[in-house]
Amino acid sequence: MAPSQEVCVVFLLCACCAVSPSGCFGTPEPRLQLSLDGKWTLTNSNSSVSLPAEVPGCVHSALLQQGFIQDPYFRFNDVSYRWIALDNWTYTTTFSVSPELRARRRVRLVFDGVDTAASIWLNGHAVGTTDNMFRQFDFPVSELLQDGENALNVSFLSPVLYAAERSRAHSAYSVPPDCPPAVQKGECHVNFIRKEQSSFSWDWGPALPTVGLWKGVRLEAFDVLQLVRVSSVPLYNSSLRQWSVQVELLVEAVQETNGRVTLSVAELDSEQTFPARFVPGKTESSFTLHINTSRPVKLWWPNGHGDQPFYRLAVQGLLEGPLTLSADVKVYFRTVELIQEPIAGSPGLSFYFRINEKPVFLKGSNWIPAHSFQDRVSPAMLKNLLQSAVDANMNALRVWGGGVYEQDLFYSLCDELGIMIWQDFMFACAMYPTEEDFIHTVREEVVQQVRRLKPHPSVVVWSGNNENEAALATDWFGIPVSQRPLYLKDYVTLYVNNIRAIVQEEDPSRPFLVSSPTNGAESEQEGWVAANPYDPHYGDTHFYSYTLDCWDWRTFPRTRFASEYGFQSWPSFSTLQPVSISEDWSYSSNFTSHRQHHENGNEQMLQQAALHFHLPNASDPMKRFTDTLYLTQVMQAQCVKTQTEFYRRSQSEIIDGEGHTMGALYWQLNDIWQAPSWSSIEFGGKWKMLHYFAQDFFAPILPVGFEDNGALLIYAVSDLSNDLKLRAVVSLYMWTKLDPVCTLKSELVVVSAGSAAAIFKQPVAAMLAGCGGCTRLSCLVVFHLEDASGQRGPVNHHFLSSLKEAQGIQRPNITAKVEEGTTGYTVTLHSAAIASFVWLEVGNVPGRFSSNGFLMVSRNRTVGFTPWRPTSVAELSTSLTVTSLRDVY
Ligand SMILES: *[C@@H]1O[C@H](CO)[C@@H](O)[C@H](O)[C@H]1NC(C)=O
Ligand SMILES: *[C@@H]1O[C@H](CO)[C@@H](O)[C@H](O)[C@H]1NC(C)=O
Ligand SMILES: *[C@@H]1O[C@H](CO)[C@@H](O)[C@H](O)[C@H]1NC(C)=O
Ligand SMILES: *[C@@H]1O[C@H](CO)[C@@H](O)[C@H](O)[C@H]1NC(C)=O
Ligand SMILES: *[C@@H]1O[C@H](CO)[C@@H](O)[C@H](O)[C@H]1NC(C)=O
Ligand SMILES: *[C@@H]1O[C@H](CO)[C@@H](O)[C@H](O)[C@H]1NC(C)=O
Ligand SMILES: *[C@@H]1O[C@H](CO)[C@@H](O)[C@H](O)[C@H]1NC(C)=O
Ligand SMILES: *[C@@H]1O[C@H](CO)[C@@H](O)[C@H](O)[C@H]1NC(C)=O
Ligand SMILES: *[C@@H]1O[C@H](CO)[C@@H](O)[C@H](O)[C@H]1NC(C)=O
Repeated sequence: MAPSQEVCVVFLLCACCAVSPSGCFGTPEPRLQLSLDGKWTLTNSNSSVSLPAEVPGCVHSALLQQGFIQDPYFRFNDVSYRWIALDNWTYTTTFSVSPELRARRRVRLVFDGVDTAASIWLNGHAVGTTDNMFRQFDFPVSELLQDGENALNVSFLSPVLYAAERSRAHSAYSVPPDCPPAVQKGECHVNFIRKEQSSFSWDWGPALPTVGLWKGVRLEAFDVLQLVRVSSVPLYNSSLRQWSVQVELLVEAVQETNGRVTLSVAELDSEQTFPARFVPGKTESSFTLHINTSRPVKLWWPNGHGDQPFYRLAVQGLLEGPLTLSADVKVYFRTVELIQEPIAGSPGLSFYFRINEKPVFLKGSNWIPAHSFQDRVSPAMLKNLLQSAVDANMNALRVWGGGVYEQDLFYSLCDELGIMIWQDFMFACAMYPTEEDFIHTVREEVVQQVRRLKPHPSVVVWSGNNENEAALATDWFGIPVSQRPLYLKDYVTLYVNNIRAIVQEEDPSRPFLVSSPTNGAESEQEGWVAANPYDPHYGDTHFYSYTLDCWDWRTFPRTRFASEYGFQSWPSFSTLQPVSISEDWSYSSNFTSHRQHHENGNEQMLQQAALHFHLPNASDPMKRFTDTLYLTQVMQAQCVKTQTEFYRRSQSEIIDGEGHTMGALYWQLNDIWQAPSWSSIEFGGKWKMLHYFAQDFFAPILPVGFEDNGALLIYAVSDLSNDLKLRAVVSLYMWTKLDPVCTLKSELVVVSAGSAAAIFKQPVAAMLAGCGGCTRLSCLVVFHLEDASGQRGPVNHHFLSSLKEAQGIQRPNITAKVEEGTTGYTVTLHSAAIASFVWLEVGNVPGRFSSNGFLMVSRNRTVGFTPWRPTSVAELSTSLTVTSLRDVY
């Protein structure tokens, strides 16, 4: 069973054998396990395909590894390989068990993850069936094991066929949507199967419905009892100012066993012993360890707000037999509250998180599965993506409800890095059935996942689903009015009466939201589905508009909490190249439209870009293609920057009843394949321009510039815990000159801890008139914040006109020199003119620049490059290209 935390030692010792009928163990012996991971045999339904297959794994990965198929991500292969998910597949293995293991009174066959509809056979006997990839399944098999060779097979039904059959069987009324939009080239009825919903296609991902044993398989054997899982949740009593740790032991016992359990956190001088009684079967026992009030407890903080310290909790059981059990787990102390209360001067309710009683602005993005095949998600990939989030000053990610509950390592890394997780349950953009067996399997899924994840301090909120309240409220699926009550009832049954009820029972330590977006408490008042779940006065919102001008902040709702918003862009050529051929390399190729799963997505990107930029028009088709990829990234970075800065500067004010924005999680952090999407990181880990921008627009101290009523305003945004005294330093540059035309400074203004404050205001016309010949078209504004000690936060800028209208933008003719530095490489740039969106690439050399996509208002600038594989000055110099906006038209 997957340990819930890092369980260092979990075993049972049998010192003597008073209770065991199977003989006396002279020496202590750990719980017996036999891993069945490794090479199995895989066959399709008519046995025309038979091959070795790795467990954990999936059919696609096995076919790829054995050379039966090419990379499913290559060109149009996602469509060519449809047949894989339409066939039925059987995994077979043989194994022998030691007499010792067979002698144990209880032997269980444990599957950590079966994807999805399968029947399991051991030595010709049916062991059981599975219907949910998010559950662990285990079966008692003592009676079925035999001496010598044992044969185990797991027979999978095509997930596409299974979903269709379940949908057909649900004949009373339809549960929409039947199929995804045609542009997604997906499979139908995914809402009828408890598997990764995006595996049937999404607007950013291919239909590659997986099949297989995606997590480990093993035998577990014991005589009297075994400790299956330890879950601990710290709880804080604020009136007593006392911490306690609620510890739950999931124990499976063959016979009633009594004894004592001692819990201790040695570092906090806290220890308590409890009587314990384990009855036959699987039971969860709960104990509460009170933490010694005379010891200060070091708290876990989100990234940017403090450290992430933990303690070790020891569990020691002394039971009759005598038996001992022991475990050692990490405990992190922190509190989380979701505050929804009236705000002066505003209708509605606030919506913000308090961590350890401190209001915290959530900065970050949304997480989707890192690969279509989870067996190909390596620890290194997870580390690189999560470290990228932290390096861009993020403190939060939402694990989106159309993917998977992520693996243990994901949450452990988030614990260590201080990334707060908004954890959706895996339901997205659909209605769902509520027949008894569906509810039953969902209930088990929710219990297991909550018990697994609740020890992680990184998880700060549970959310029942993605966008299903909105789908119902704003009628995405054309449900007749007369039938609405039926769907409302199903909605409440699934998310409120089942999922919410279980979460509240299992985890008192964090808030639960029924959906995202939701009006939260107001949705509850309205019977769980609000008239308008996008109401900016309540809860969180998702907001997308591709046609409105993203440079104009008035486009965006001044929401309490932005949990989704974003713009698409294309990944860079070096990411596309390995999955395409030269005929694909144009913006109008079949490949380019094939990879776009969002209706009109490719056109929308150019339309949005054309509002402010000249579109690439190089006569060389290859250059025009790569310039276009670049320009989509410029557009995306600038749009998300504008929107995010708007949210951050709106945190301390209420305007026309709207504001107090306390979260900005753009859609989306990562990619599942090489295709256009809303991501800021390409498949493979390369940062798009947006991610480099995020580093700045999520900086702890940030100057934000914007225009309102003809005036230029600069706000100082601070996430720090102490007040600051800051001034804005504002320079106007002419596009034709590398030195500022004039520079203005504001007074020092107090910027309180965790706030946004206006610190500079000048009518634009007066400012231009006072600055030697500047006009909106000829000049731009560059600004930063400073205090007595110097510059605080990044340099930012504000364009006074669309760049396609600006006058005097010159080709900067940037030259670059690569050198080897002490910790990587440096690139020193020299520019002949002001250059915007300066973008460095080094072809196929993977790695990361210290900054990229920047505005260059100086002649020289040095940027670092950290490669992810050995390279050289020669290779980098040959591969390096520098593109700025003026270079694409
Ligand atoms: C076996 O099934 C595959 C996949 O459905 C099909 O392509 C093939 O023709 C079948 N072979 C035989 C011998 O029936
Ligand atoms: C898969 O199994 C189902 C159920 O037994 C059957 O109806 C279907 O024909 C099988 N598919 C293939 C390709 O054999
Ligand atoms: C799986 O095992 C059962 C029982 O032995 C058997 O009937 C079935 O044919 C096996 N399936 C495959 C594909 O080996
Ligand atoms: C805190 O402890 C007091 C005294 O034992 C108790 O009355 C109260 O219910 C506790 N509060 C919480 C939130 O558990
Ligand atoms: C609490 O800690 C203090 C100081 O470390 C220690 O003297 C005391 O025995 C502890 N109390 C309990 C109940 O463990
Ligand atoms: C693009 O796809 C269309 C329709 O499938 C096809 O007719 C055409 O030949 C393809 N073009 C190229 C260049 O492959
Ligand atoms: C860049 O080079 C071009 C072509 O040589 C030249 O016309 C242009 O003036 C140069 N730009 C600057 C700012 O010197
Ligand atoms: C800037 O770069 C140019 C060309 O590389 C060099 O000649 C010059 O000395 C540099 N200036 C400064 C101030 O570093
Ligand atoms: C590309 O567009 C720019 C801006 O509209 C224009 O000045 C230039 O002449 C165009 N170049 C080509 C090759 O069409």
